[in-house]
Amino acid sequence: MNEEQRNELSQIREKSSDEGNLERIKQKTSEDFMQYFQTTYQPPNMRDAQRRKKKDTEVHYDFSIPEDMNLAGQGKKYMIRTYGCQMNEHDTEVMAGIFEEMGYESTSNQKEADVILLNTCAIRENAENKVFGEIGHLKSLKVENPNLILGICGCMSQEESVVNRILKKHPFIDLIFGTHNIHRLPQLMKEAMFGKEMVVDVWSKEGDIIENLPRARKGNIKAWVNIMYGCDKFCTYCIVPYTRGKERSRMPQDIIQEVRHLAAQGYKEVTLLGQNVNSYGKDLNIGYGLGDLMDELRSIDIPRVRFTTSHPRDFDDRLVEVLAKGGNMLDHIHLPVQSGNTDVLKIMGRKYSREEYLDLVRKIRLAMPGATLTTDIIVGFPNETEEQFQDTLSLVEEVGFEAAYTFIYSPRDNTPAAKMKDNVSMEEKKDRLHRLNKLVNQQSADAMSKYEGEVVDVLVQGESKNNPDVLAGYTKRNKLVNFRAPDAVIGKIVPVRITKAKTWSLDGELVEEKVEVK
Ligand code: SAH
Ligand code: SF4
Ligand code: F3S
Repeated sequence: MNEEQRNELSQIREKSSDEGNLERIKQKTSEDFMQYFQTTYQPPNMRDAQRRKKKDTEVHYDFSIPEDMNLAGQGKKYMIRTYGCQMNEHDTEVMAGIFEEMGYESTSNQKEADVILLNTCAIRENAENKVFGEIGHLKSLKVENPNLILGICGCMSQEESVVNRILKKHPFIDLIFGTHNIHRLPQLMKEAMFGKEMVVDVWSKEGDIIENLPRARKGNIKAWVNIMYGCDKFCTYCIVPYTRGKERSRMPQDIIQEVRHLAAQGYKEVTLLGQNVNSYGKDLNIGYGLGDLMDELRSIDIPRVRFTTSHPRDFDDRLVEVLAKGGNMLDHIHLPVQSGNTDVLKIMGRKYSREEYLDLVRKIRLAMPGATLTTDIIVGFPNETEEQFQDTLSLVEEVGFEAAYTFIYSPRDNTPAAKMKDNVSMEEKKDRLHRLNKLVNQQSADAMSKYEGEVVDVLVQGESKNNPDVLAGYTKRNKLVNFRAPDAVIGKIVPVRITKAKTWSLDGELVEEKVEVK
C-alpha cells in the first residue's frame, strides 16, 4: 500500500467513524490492509516458535507509564473481558493495574466504557468462536461511539490466522496486541487514541520477564503469582507454546518478595502460576526447583499456597517431600493426565507412559495419603480407538480422580496433531466425553459423600455465586462448601460441619463455638 492509499484509508476510517458507517471500511479496505500487512508486518510464526533458541531471558525492572500517558485515563473507564485460564485472568489484573495507573476507572457496563479489551484464549476452537461472536457484538458499540477503543489481546492475538482474520473482517478493531506486549499498553493506547489505523503489536518472540508491573487484583483474599511464563513441552495438540513463548522462570527472590508482600496485605491464599510449574527453575541453571521454592514459601505466614498446572513428567521427589510436610502446602494436586493409554500419550508428546503416571500417583499417595487428585483429559484425539479410550476410563478409576476438566480434542492451526488424519467421528467423540463425564461425576459424588458429618476448615471467599444468602469457600482439598454465616467471616478460615454432600459441592453449617480466626 503506498502513501496515497494509506491516506485514503485513513480518510475512509475517519469519515466512516464520523458517519457511524463502519460497513464501508470493511468493504473498501480489507484488501488494502491485507496487502499492507503482508509486506510490512510480520505476524507470529509457528515455525520460528518451534526453532526457539535457549538464549538468556531478559528481566526488566524498569516499567513506568510514559509521562504523556500518566493522566490519559482521567474521567475515562475501561473494561476487560477475560477468556481462558488463570494466566489470562492474572494478565487482566496486570492490564487493569496499568489502566488504573493511567487514571482510568473500571466499569462492568460496556455502554459507559471508553476502552474495551478482550483478553482472549486460543486453546480450543469454541474458545475462539466465543471471542469472534463477541467481536461481532462490539461493532454496534463502536458505531454508536466512534471514540471507543476496541482491543484484542491474549493468546488469540499470537495466532497469525486470527490477526489476519481481524484485519480482513473486523477493521473497526483499533488495537491488537499479544501476550508479550502487555507492558506496552500505555504506548499502544496512545497510538490507538491518536492514530487513524489499526494498531497491531504482536511479537513472535520467546519472551522476556517484566518485573515491576502494577496489578489491580480481584479481591483481597486469594491472589495469583506468576512463577514462570511460557511452555517448552510442545504437546502435539497444544497451541500454548506458540502463544506464550518459551519457558522462563522468575527469580526466586522476586517471587518470595511478592508472596511476602501479599501475606503482609492480609491475603490468605496464593496460587503460583505457570503452564508447567514443575519445570520451574530449569532455565535459571542455579539448581533450584519448584520443591525448593515451595519449601521457602512454607515459612511465610500465609495460610494457603497452591500451584497450577503440574506436568507429570517433571514432578520430582523433592516436591513430593516438601508437599508432604503440610503446613500451608495444600492437600490437592491437579495433575493433568490427558489420556490413560501409553500409545496415545506418546503421539500427544506427553513424554510419560500410563505406568509412569501411575507410579507418580503412588508416590504422592504414599507421602500424602489424604490428598485430592484432579486432572485434565482429552477424548477423541486423532484415531483414538475405543480400547484406548477404555484405558482412560480405567485410569480415572484406578487413580480415583475427584474431579476432571474433560475436553473433546480440538485441532489447532499449525500444531502437529492438526495435520493428522482422524477417523473418529464427532458423534463418537461426544459419546466418549459423555461416558467419561458420567464416571468422573460419580467419583466426585462418592468423594463428597465421605465428608458428611465431618468438620472442615473453609477459607470463606464471599457470597455463593448461585445464592447471595449463602457464603461459599474452599477446603484445603479444594472442595466447595456453601453455608450460612454472618458476612464477618468472609476472608477468614472457619470450621464448618458438613450436613449434605452434592456432586460438586458440600452444604454445611458454621461450627460457631469454635470460630477460630486464622
Ligand atoms: N499446561 C497445562 C494445561 C494447559 S491447557 C498442562 O499441560 O496440563 C488446559 C487443558 O486444555 C490441557 O490440559 C488439555 O487437557 C486441554 N487442551 C489443550 N489443548 C487442547 C486441544 N487442542 N483440544 C482439546 N483440549 C485441549
Ligand atoms: Fe500445552 Fe503441553 Fe505445555 Fe500444557 S505442557 S501448556 S498441554 S504444551
Ligand atoms: Fe487459553 Fe492462553 Fe490460557 S490459550 S488456556 S488463555 S495460556
